[in-house]
Amino acid sequence: MISWLSLLYLFTYTVAEPAKPTPIVLWHGMGDTCCFSFSLGTFKLYLEKQIPGAYVLSLRIGNSVIEDLENGYFMNPNKQVDYACDALAKDPKLQDGFNAIGFSQGSQFLRAVVQRCGHKVGPVKNLITLGGQHQGVYGLPHCFALQHETCDYVRKLLNYAAYYRWVQNSLVQATYWHDPLDDTTYKQNSEFLADINNERTVNQTYVNNLESLEHFIMVKFDNDSIVQPKETEWFGFYAPGQAKKILSLQQSELYKQDRLGLKKMEEDGKLVFLSQPGDHLRFTEEWFSNNILKPYLL
Ligand SMILES: *[C@@H]1O[C@H](CO)[C@@H](O)[C@H](O)[C@H]1NC(C)=O
Ligand SMILES: *[C@@H]1O[C@H](CO)[C@@H](O)[C@H](O)[C@H]1NC(C)=O
Repeated sequence: MISWLSLLYLFTYTVAEPAKPTPIVLWHGMGDTCCFSFSLGTFKLYLEKQIPGAYVLSLRIGNSVIEDLENGYFMNPNKQVDYACDALAKDPKLQDGFNAIGFSQGSQFLRAVVQRCGHKVGPVKNLITLGGQHQGVYGLPHCFALQHETCDYVRKLLNYAAYYRWVQNSLVQATYWHDPLDDTTYKQNSEFLADINNERTVNQTYVNNLESLEHFIMVKFDNDSIVQPKETEWFGFYAPGQAKKILSLQQSELYKQDRLGLKKMEEDGKLVFLSQPGDHLRFTEEWFSNNILKPYLL
């Protein structure tokens, strides 16, 4: 005789749902809702259409879209990351894991989420960053429109104030301002970037959480007029002491000393470097589908 328990088992087994697609979490860039021609709302709909049944969460930092927009400029990233960690840990739909896509500054914020709370939220499988500033920025949007000398002067000026504590606390972009001419001050005073890049000490939790990703995919925009230097999108940056020569990730001390586990990740085939010919965040659906969606999201 079949017991009711085994019947229950049989029932559960037979009607078990087909595997749900992996959810996706998005984090927008600075000023996204107002200024970019590229809209995240449209992108969410696109993903939902391409991956039927997928849960797509576009992170809103704050209680309204307006707050979210303002927080992109004025809410300290450490607080934004805490906020996101909390929201992700509470979301029942994300408990079995998810893929994460960051846009522009949302890239380094999502990487911080992985590093700081990857062990507390559903496992993050693939981290995809589009035009992220992993080594920070040392330049102004559309700086190319100015005379080179003027631009350099303004950069120096901003740099003079960027590491003041009140500026670090109140202006998001100052927390990933990276002055190659004064590496020591950057490492000591950058409240966000120097910390998540393990510049002061090596936080092993950051390393372990990052290494538990399946892939870390970085997309660079070769004609980027907003992010300076564009190589930061692949974790490269100016060599310390000057602002012309660029070191790739592989040439950097961060990599050679493997302070963040990126060398190990590359050896394990987990780092993926992709590039696009256009300006910041410009790509076609076809490119996204072939290079990101099919290999990592489906
Ligand atoms: C390392 O990071 C974890 C996760 O964010 C944090 O809880 C811990 O305090 C950090 N350790 C150090 C020594 O900063
Ligand atoms: C790169 O930017 C320059 C200057 O804005 C523009 O003239 C050129 O068409 C761009 N090239 C591509 C491939 O987008």
